[in-house]
Amino acid sequence: MRPIVALLVMLFSLSARTQIPTSTPDIDARVEVLLKKMTLDEKIGQMNQVTGDISTGTNVAQSDMMSQIRSGHVGSVLSHTNFDNKIKMQEEAVKKSRLGIPIIFGFDVIHGYKTIFPIPLAQAASWDLASIEALERIAATEASSDGQNWTFSPMVDLSREPRWGRVMEGAGEDPYLGARIAEARVKGFQGTDLAQPNTIATCAKHFAGYGFSEGGRDYNTVDMSEQRLREFVMPPFKAAADAGSATFMNAFNTLNGTPCTMNKHIQEDMLRGEWKWNGMMVSDWNSVGETMVHGSASDVVDASAKCLIAGCDMDMAGGTYMLGMKKALEEGRVTQDQIDEAVRRVLRLKFQLGLFDNPFLYLNAKTREQNLEKPEYRDLARSVAAESMVLLKNDGGVLPITPSSPFKKIALIGPYADSRGNKDYMSFWTLGLGMREYDSTKVVTPAMALKPALEAMGFEVTVTQICMDAACTEVDYSAALKAARDADLVICLLGERGLDCGESRCVSSLELPRGQETIARMVSRGNKPVVTVLFNSRPLVFPWITENVPAILLAWQPGFEAGNALVDVLTGKVNPSGKLPITFPRNLGQVPIYYNHLNTGRPQETMGTMWTSGYLDSSVQPAWPFGFGLSYTQFRYFDIQLSKSAISMDETLEVSINVTNTGSVAGTEVVQCYIHDLSADIARPVKELKGFERIKLNPGETRKVVFKLSKDDLRYWNQDIQFKADPGKFKVFVGGNSQDVKEVEFTLR
Ligand code: NOJ
Repeated sequence: MRPIVALLVMLFSLSARTQIPTSTPDIDARVEVLLKKMTLDEKIGQMNQVTGDISTGTNVAQSDMMSQIRSGHVGSVLSHTNFDNKIKMQEEAVKKSRLGIPIIFGFDVIHGYKTIFPIPLAQAASWDLASIEALERIAATEASSDGQNWTFSPMVDLSREPRWGRVMEGAGEDPYLGARIAEARVKGFQGTDLAQPNTIATCAKHFAGYGFSEGGRDYNTVDMSEQRLREFVMPPFKAAADAGSATFMNAFNTLNGTPCTMNKHIQEDMLRGEWKWNGMMVSDWNSVGETMVHGSASDVVDASAKCLIAGCDMDMAGGTYMLGMKKALEEGRVTQDQIDEAVRRVLRLKFQLGLFDNPFLYLNAKTREQNLEKPEYRDLARSVAAESMVLLKNDGGVLPITPSSPFKKIALIGPYADSRGNKDYMSFWTLGLGMREYDSTKVVTPAMALKPALEAMGFEVTVTQICMDAACTEVDYSAALKAARDADLVICLLGERGLDCGESRCVSSLELPRGQETIARMVSRGNKPVVTVLFNSRPLVFPWITENVPAILLAWQPGFEAGNALVDVLTGKVNPSGKLPITFPRNLGQVPIYYNHLNTGRPQETMGTMWTSGYLDSSVQPAWPFGFGLSYTQFRYFDIQLSKSAISMDETLEVSINVTNTGSVAGTEVVQCYIHDLSADIARPVKELKGFERIKLNPGETRKVVFKLSKDDLRYWNQDIQFKADPGKFKVFVGGNSQDVKEVEFTLR
């Protein structure tokens, strides 16, 4: 663990790893006492979540908040930023409503609250679980000090869809990596005691399948086999449940025909039945009401009944339960017990958070002042941003830039050289900063940090910010051309606008938006070496750059410390170690493209190009595979060994490999272990990630890395929905990405 992370983890005393119980005898007893005093209206009120001062969805009716709270009609408020106002609401709830039940404030804390970290997909590229846990600890500390008790995070939707705007919120395409990151996030936010003033409840979302929306379109249809659902969608959710996530959120999409919000199979049978999870389920924004738009419920009564019976305890934003639940009970569509059970879950959460003991626990102005935006939070924001950057290409070793690099003049050029708007270098999901109005001076832009840093190294540096509006591109383009001509090295900064990343920001083209490849072509005209830095929130395609530009650094949306992290990586202070958590396609037509695909009966890789599974007009290979990322040093993998050539179902296999840093600088490598089940009862993926380890090696140093595989790693869901391992042959692969691997075979007896 690096010093910063170690310090933060120590600081917040997170060493214990115990799971938080979702109920205790004491809390249960207090809930029952309260429940007995509640009227039906008050119970339904607890199941109602209303919107605060910012909107993150479709228009919904808003009534007088204070009088609703006073009448006991509000269980929770979401997306409220104004601190003093939250105090007023809580006062209204605990002092003026009949039973004084406190409000729980929910908020989307997606990549930091006030201190903005890299987007979640970028964090996943670090493969650094300790850092991810530590940054969520900071996010929880900031959010809780500002009065939020509950985050709608982690978003654990696995996705193979770069068109989907929300792919940036998840951990990419792999269920194993996704599960480990889900655990780290839950631990980071919740700590070991939800009643501490600096911990908040998590919400694993969106349950389930949302990342597989057809056409990569938000809110769209999802249809998949139960086998695929369990194998690819569920592992991160299961990990979040096992780590004790206090709540879950269901999803907008239909899953195999049924809207998730009224999907009993996944919520009641799987999550609560099989997995024994007993937390609270909240709907997504008006997704109870939207069951009527789906055509799956006839009216508010029908919608309320169907969603409650399917396991949805709280209705976010739409107010459908308020309109329909009472009648659903009167008509015998739901039982009093079903309502009580949902209310119990809501109340239990409030007890767990300590809100009944001190409703103002999270509303202390002094704590707020002490805990927001501490300078040391920036250290982690900077180090995680640097370690999430992925070096895709570095022909001729253009990078890193050092005082002995053969240039004098460096030109920083592009729409993201020094941008101050559109939440650039961040995303839509930075609601803690406010919606559109935010203090842009908090972001360290690339130019702000790179110019002085490179000048201090003795270079002359120019900055040409290109505006992408039609009115100004012509002027800016000629300035860029001139700057490139005058320079010895061009750093071209391209990508997506921050506000184009997140919900309702799907795209039908994966090209760099607004024709930005043109900028790279233009600045390359003078035959000067060009380094392209990409700020994107999803896999994009940039074929000309891939082919022609010698160095490409994927910086994602790095957050507040964008510029400083870039200095660290571009100058070699930090040797890049990021690895792609999602496959980068060559072109849109290849989507969905993912590393853990089935072999097919006619794989092109081994059977040639004709009559095999491929395209006439494109390779089937990705531009960059899952797990890929270069370093300024090189790693040699050798001597892969197994502890045994055959194991029984009860034995554990050890797979070892030696890794040597063969270059001249120290570097961190993410060593990845995959398997392929060669003779299962059904077809199995050509590779499945089963373990990884981040190791730091000095030049010339060799480390032996050992992975352990047991029956649990070899099991899979078959078509009869049994989780089992089949005797037979397996391959094990170890390497620095999913393609360049050493392999060996063993038998499971
Ligand atoms: C809708 C989104 O799907 C969900 O992720 C989010 O938490 C809610 N809106 C609240 O903003």
